Amino acid sequence: MNVALGVGGGVAAYKAAELARALMEHGFTVQAILTDAAREFIQPLTFAALTGRKVITGLFSGASSEDTLASSVEHIRVAQEHDVLVIAPATADLLAKLAHGLAGDFLTTMYLAFTGPVVLAPAMNSNMWNHPALRENMRILRERGHTIVEPEDGPLACGTIGPGRLAEPEKIAKVVAGLRNRPAASKRDMEGETVLITAGPTQEPLDAVRYLSNRSSGKMGYALAQAARDRGARVILVSGPVHIDPPKDVEIVRVHTAVEMREAVMDHLDEATVIVKAAAVADYQRLNAPNHKVKKTAARLSLELDPTPDILAELGRKKGDRLLVGFAAETENLIEEARRKLESKNCDMVVANLVSQEGEGFESDENEVVLVLRTGEAIPVKRAPKTAIAHRIFDEMIKLRLALHSLR
Ligand code: CTP
Repeated sequence: MNVALGVGGGVAAYKAAELARALMEHGFTVQAILTDAAREFIQPLTFAALTGRKVITGLFSGASSEDTLASSVEHIRVAQEHDVLVIAPATADLLAKLAHGLAGDFLTTMYLAFTGPVVLAPAMNSNMWNHPALRENMRILRERGHTIVEPEDGPLACGTIGPGRLAEPEKIAKVVAGLRNRPAASKRDMEGETVLITAGPTQEPLDAVRYLSNRSSGKMGYALAQAARDRGARVILVSGPVHIDPPKDVEIVRVHTAVEMREAVMDHLDEATVIVKAAAVADYQRLNAPNHKVKKTAARLSLELDPTPDILAELGRKKGDRLLVGFAAETENLIEEARRKLESKNCDMVVANLVSQEGEGFESDENEVVLVLRTGEAIPVKRAPKTAIAHRIFDEMIKLRLALHSLR
């Protein structure tokens, strides 16, 4: 795969050289494109030496040295010949230009001519990153479907501490590598399907102000919703309380408790052809929780909890021909536990993951899972961004449907 690497003018530009190397280690060919501002921070020669290719700089004409290349139609050719456009560091100025379609130099013009996936890794001062103008531009770019590798917290070149540091080159390279698993935008192999997805945690009230919950971020379920939508499915997303925005063009039903989630799921069961239960449903609830705030006393407090309805098990009984995908978060005996859940809850697939591994699972952007199938197969899926995992789940689900059909 060919990556066009746009480099903006910021202190972090030197890290783009490391990124070029990391991308090549992942098997990509890299074409570097430097803005004029970037050349104030780093020499084209560095990229030419690393990538073994002439570097594109500045405007459309006037290739200025041996290591640079540009012509009046070059931006169209470069747009056509590359599979992914990565911009790192993406400065506030570049992000504003991309958001509003300003095309004054090679990189911004090529961006407008480019139709593939775009990955943006911003870097700037924390106050700039938090400015409403920047927030608005990021919203536009996110809604356009671009992948954003968020800047990290830490000491910045300007002396302040906060969000704004360019993400580590290896992390950006991994996000780009994850796009390899993503089908081309034209692959709409889920048209006609209605996918019912649950996501996030549930919150079970203990009194008027307190609740019992878990650390689920909802990221896996939301990535599944986005993937199914991109593949042409109608998506109904039943979501517990989370802090992320739902993907555009999915029908969202917001719930708090397991009982509410069960109701929402059963309300939409008839319409669904596929059900994916990514939610981390609380297993216990406090029945008749007081609707006032319980006052503290010096005495020990015991709470009596009752089981919540097992939504997945009920779906297993009612599913008919629908494909049912459950999740299993385990700390040990991953595959055996997943097989047990697959059998006992009559699922077609269980997505199993070890929740004890750092950087994966509940709050992370990445995951490593094993897909345990009704056919008896257990398919390990290496650590990858949740969007890539989501697509892999649907790839295997579509194959599974064909296999189950041929068994009938
Ligand atoms: N689930 C559900 N309703 C519940 C609890 C869990 O639908 N009340 C679903 C989850 O959405 C997930 C799957 O069941 O798809 C597995 O959840 P998990 O908590 O791992 O399984 P449990 O059934 O609680 O099993 P155990 O406690 O034995 O691990």
